[in-house]
This record gives sequence, structure tokens and C-alpha cells, in this order.
Amino acid sequence: MPSALPLADPAPLDGVLPASVLEGADERNFGVYLHVPFCRVRCGYCDFNTYTADELRGAKRADYAGQAIAEVEFGGRVLASAGLPERQASTVFFGGGTPTMLPAVDLISMLGAVRATWGIAEGAEVTTEANPDSVDAAYLRSLADAGFTRVSFGMQSAVPRVLATLERTHDPERIPLVVGWARDVGLQVSLDLIYGTPGETIADWRASLDMAIAQAPDHVSAYALIVEDGTKLARQIRRGEIATPDDDVQADMYELADARLVEAGFGWYEVSNWARGAEGSPALEWDRFASRHNLAYWQGHDWWGIGPGAHSHVGGVRWWNVKHPAAYAERMLAGQSPATGRETLDPETRRIEGVLLRSRIREGLPVSTLTAAGRTAVAALIAEELVDARAAFGGSIQLTLKGRLLADLVVRRLLDE
Ligand SMILES: C[S@@+](CC[C@H](N)C(=O)[O-])C[C@H]1O[C@@H](n2cnc3c(N)ncnc32)[C@H](O)[C@@H]1O
Ligand code: SF4
Repeated sequence: MPSALPLADPAPLDGVLPASVLEGADERNFGVYLHVPFCRVRCGYCDFNTYTADELRGAKRADYAGQAIAEVEFGGRVLASAGLPERQASTVFFGGGTPTMLPAVDLISMLGAVRATWGIAEGAEVTTEANPDSVDAAYLRSLADAGFTRVSFGMQSAVPRVLATLERTHDPERIPLVVGWARDVGLQVSLDLIYGTPGETIADWRASLDMAIAQAPDHVSAYALIVEDGTKLARQIRRGEIATPDDDVQADMYELADARLVEAGFGWYEVSNWARGAEGSPALEWDRFASRHNLAYWQGHDWWGIGPGAHSHVGGVRWWNVKHPAAYAERMLAGQSPATGRETLDPETRRIEGVLLRSRIREGLPVSTLTAAGRTAVAALIAEELVDARAAFGGSIQLTLKGRLLADLVVRRLLDE
């Protein structure tokens, strides 16, 4: 974990960036994240920055696209006046919340603003997250026609009892339908799964993996259920109404996921993410189906995060926006930056963050980013089969399957804590 906190700066209302962001900018890609902070109902486990209709305190969903477009235009001005080279967006990602609660025209006009402001690179990856019950065939066709290339569905589980514990509203029978519609219009498909829900058996989890694999998606994310403070799930667990997720069961489920996905022709490229492309297949396959947007976060590239609570990073400067949609609307109406806090990472903090993020991805962490003490730790990590020996001799720290299960421990030892 970082030993020193980043230096905190006030977030200037004009968003102006320091000259330090120019350093190395040519070597960094640029991506855009657009947050859509709305959900029909809140799932019991979720602490994402999202609001149901009666939590909006006067903010209107119908006004949101206009405000987000205003921030895109504001971002265009800030980056240009910092003197950064013109970089088209190589990835665009609509996340939430539930982006697909907005009419397709709203997402399309937000994407249009990104295109008009920064341009969208040839072959860019343009993704939206979607709940399986919030899209139909016509909706997906409109997105594909407008330049979206990928959709990530929150499937979570194939088992109604597990979905009920998670308070998910969709019927699992809808998964083949929505995936079919996405495929028909040429969108790449990713499925999100959650494992380790209290009451979920290994057989339930196997059924979810089998159903996901049967859809022939291009990409699968599998997340261990995390009990976030302040959620309804945390309260239910505290009151003894629901059991605590069991770490050992979650570890078994992770191993099962990796085995089933590898067998089905997927390979891991980040601890919780697998892309189509068998082990040992040419790198090109991985590039095609891995989420390039998420890889850019782990690799320390630049991105502008639009919307309430969104985080941005440009050249070691990181900032985050006001959380509530009503506060965000006020800032955008006043023509001010929606950022509420900002920090400039010193070189040592950037190095530590690089270790934290890059050790989780398959391409691995260059040994050269470790201190002498961190390098000394590597031999023991290899002996304990947490780090791959061959990759380490080639200069890169890559987790083994056992290492992926204990990724936090490996990172602590690489940082010599
Ligand atoms: C913003 S949501 C995805 C979009 C959409 N709202 C949905 O839920 O289908 C991103 C993903 O994070 C995962 N997630 C959210 N909260 C989680 C938690 N507490 N533990 C594990 N995974 C979580 C879920 O798999 C979810 O699909
Ligand atoms: S639908 Fe997605 S973002 Fe909304 S509450 Fe559920 S998990 Fe969270």
C-alpha cells in the first residue's frame, strides 16, 4: 500500500492543469469515461455513485446528457490550453449506474460530443455497460449504428435464488436474448459475473459460468462479492439475516472460473478479467477482446472522467468530481469545473501506484520499477509459486494462479511492507 499520501491540491474552478502533465504525454493514450449516475432500483450490494428517482433532489435525468456534454467541451478547452498534443480518444466507456436507463439518443449525443471535441481514433473501443432488462434490439442497433463497438451486460448469475439475494431485477432467461441482439448488430459482448454470494453453492457458480460461456461472449469479468460498508447487504449481514461471504469458498470459485474459462478458450489478462483467445494465442487476439479502456487505467494512461463522482487522470494529476447529480448540475450550469478535489502524485507515489496496478495484469510489472528491497522479495515469491519464474527471469513480474488469489499479499511484499 502507498506509504505516503499524494499531495492534495485545491481543485481550481477553471480546471487549469500544471505544465508537468506535458511530460511524456506523447507516449500516453487518451480515453474518456462517461458516468451515468442513475439506476431504477439500487441492488443491495452496490455502493457505486448512482441514484434512484427519489434520491435525485431535483436533478433531472432528462437534463443529464446536456450537462455531460458541457463537461466534455470544458475538458476539451482545459486539455488544449495545457498545451497537450492533440490526442483522439482511443477508448470511450459509458459506465454507471445504468447508462442504458437514458434514451439511446442521449448516449449517442454524448458520444457525438467526444467525437467533436477530441475525435475518436480509428479502431477505437466504445463500450457501454447495460443491465439485461434495460435494453432491447432497437436500442442496441441505434448504439451500434452510432459507433459503439462493445456492450458489457451485468449478468451476475444464472441462478434466480442468487440473483434474488443480490436483489437483481432481471430474469436470467433474458441473457441469451440480449446477447443475441447485441451480436446481430455486430457489438462485442462482455458479461459481468459475481461469485461468493451468501447461499451460492459451487454448483450454482458452475451453472452461471456454463450459462455465460454458452453465450460465446468475447469477454468475461468475474468479481468476488465485496460487502461494502453502508450497503443494505452489509446491514443484513450485521443483523445476521445473511451470512458473510466465505473467503475459502470464494477462492475455490475463482479457481473454478479460471479452469472453466481457460477450457472454453478464454485467457486471463487481469486478475478479474478474461478475454477470448486461448492460452498461447497470438497477442493480437488479446488486444482485440481485452477491455482496452480498463487496461489503460492499469497501465497509467490518461483519461477524462465525465459526470458526478467521476475520476480523471492526466500525467500524474488526478481529480474527482462532486458526487451528487444536483451539485454536478449546478457546477455545469455555472460553467465551472465539477472537480471537488485534486492531487498531484509525486514520482515515488506514481511508482507505488504502478506496482499496485500493473502487478494485476498479465503483461506484468517490469522488475525495473521495484526498489532493491522489492527485487529481493521476488526470489521468495517465485519459490512460493506466487510469481511466474520464467517471466521474472525475462524481467517481468507476472502472477501465477496462486498469486492471483493472493494478489494483495504479493503487492505488499513487492513494496516491502
Ligand atoms: C456499474 S455495474 C454494471 C452496470 C449495471 N449497472 C449492472 O449492474 O448491470 C459494474 C459491475 O460491478 C460489479 N459490482 C458492483 N458492486 C459489486 C460488489 N459489491 N462486489 C462485487 N462486484 C460488484 C457488478 O458485477 C457490476 O456488473
Ligand atoms: S444496477 Fe448496477 S450500478 Fe445499479 S445498483 Fe445495481 S449493480 Fe449498482
